[in-house]
Amino acid sequence: MRISVIGCGYLGAVHAACMAKLGHEVVGIDVDERKIAELSAARAPFFEPGLEELLGEVQETGRLSFSTDMAAAKGSAVHFICVGTPQKKGENGADLTYVDAATAALLPYLSPGEIVVGKSTVPVGTAARLAMTLEQAGLNAHLLWNPEFLREGHAVSDTLHPDRLVYGVAGGSEEHEAVQVLDKVYATPLESGTPRLVTDLPTAELVKTAANSFLATKISFINAMAELCDAVGADVTLLADAIGMDDRIGRKFLNAGIGFGGGCLPKDIRAFMARAGELGADQALTFLREVDAINMRRRTRVVELTRELCGNTLLGKRITVLGAAFKPESDDVRDSPALSIAAQLQLQGAVVTVTDPEALANAARRFPELHYEESTNSALNRADALLLLTEWREYRDLDPYETAALVSTPRILDGRNVLDASKWRAAGWTYRGLGRP
Ligand code: UGA
Repeated sequence: MRISVIGCGYLGAVHAACMAKLGHEVVGIDVDERKIAELSAARAPFFEPGLEELLGEVQETGRLSFSTDMAAAKGSAVHFICVGTPQKKGENGADLTYVDAATAALLPYLSPGEIVVGKSTVPVGTAARLAMTLEQAGLNAHLLWNPEFLREGHAVSDTLHPDRLVYGVAGGSEEHEAVQVLDKVYATPLESGTPRLVTDLPTAELVKTAANSFLATKISFINAMAELCDAVGADVTLLADAIGMDDRIGRKFLNAGIGFGGGCLPKDIRAFMARAGELGADQALTFLREVDAINMRRRTRVVELTRELCGNTLLGKRITVLGAAFKPESDDVRDSPALSIAAQLQLQGAVVTVTDPEALANAARRFPELHYEESTNSALNRADALLLLTEWREYRDLDPYETAALVSTPRILDGRNVLDASKWRAAGWTYRGLGRP
């Protein structure tokens, strides 16, 4: 099938490459010339494992191209809208400028019978509004909502092998003619047994925000338990193991630590609350305010613990932060808890050095006032305290004896509870976890 993918960020670039891998003829469109130049040269404009190899592979088949010109969408049977929906400046709501602009720009190139498929995370009600825009344009083109559940760091496999496909169509009927078209797009994952659900438009939009809200709630739940564990000297990691063995609860997303960040969970729960308010259902989501507050409190807690660890003062202390990305296998620093903690420590008088295998360039753009070191060893050199804030494999695998030889004082705060505390203590370290004795 001929497919256009509008918006080539984390979602769109991966989606375009994966659709080509599934055998479709795909054009990726974005207004950002630099991004399109990179993608056209089969280079990923951001770090995502497997993406660059996939771009190279599918570009050789001639099935994938990129353009800054929306006219390139002309003639595609399916148009995916994959643009960003960031948080509005100074407000909780989602900024729909890019979704609206992409749809408006696409209109002149649509032909009857084609389908427009939204994948961006949007406030419920957006799809119905865009469907109305298409209808008013008299195009006889259908609008569907097909939320995306990919995780950064696993984006390629999540797109090629999704755990479910959700199609939101007007009226919510399986018989809707566009359902068959989308079934052709996803023929390969469907044949391999991926479940698919057909819903109405608002349900499909809500599936996405509800899923992210649930994940955020799970993380904040365990972080609240970590606060209690700290108060009584219990161990939140064992608590999570034990409650996680109940498969109604499950162990995944129960890792207590510095909390969630990134371009999705934080802004999605806020946009969800804002939208509920507009719908007069704000009470239904007031618990998300608490989820957000617990999450933000983790960052302050780490700053306070670091102060304690350094003998109750941060002034002039050389602190090394291991990890800047919001999670491992990503160079994304949007709302990164690690960077936000690093910046706070620096503000409070510490001399902070940040290192990360992939995210330093993005981090330096966001917080130019911090000091960055590419080499882990140079970053460790003469540190008064280490903070492991993003659990990249290379930090989890640090040898406590070799590391002790590099630092000034062997003190470590394990912000992700991933190190073996007894091993580090045996090597002479003062070890602090979060919610661990
Ligand atoms: C999230 C969702 O997991 C995806 O399903 C969704 O498609 C995506 O948002 C999106 O809306 O596009 P992502 O932002 O890539 O994916 O990251 P997650 O893996 O969800 O992690 C989010 C944050 O939670 C990270 O900062 C991570 O370190 C933190 N986290 C995760 C914890 O603190 N504890 C955990 O147990 C798990």
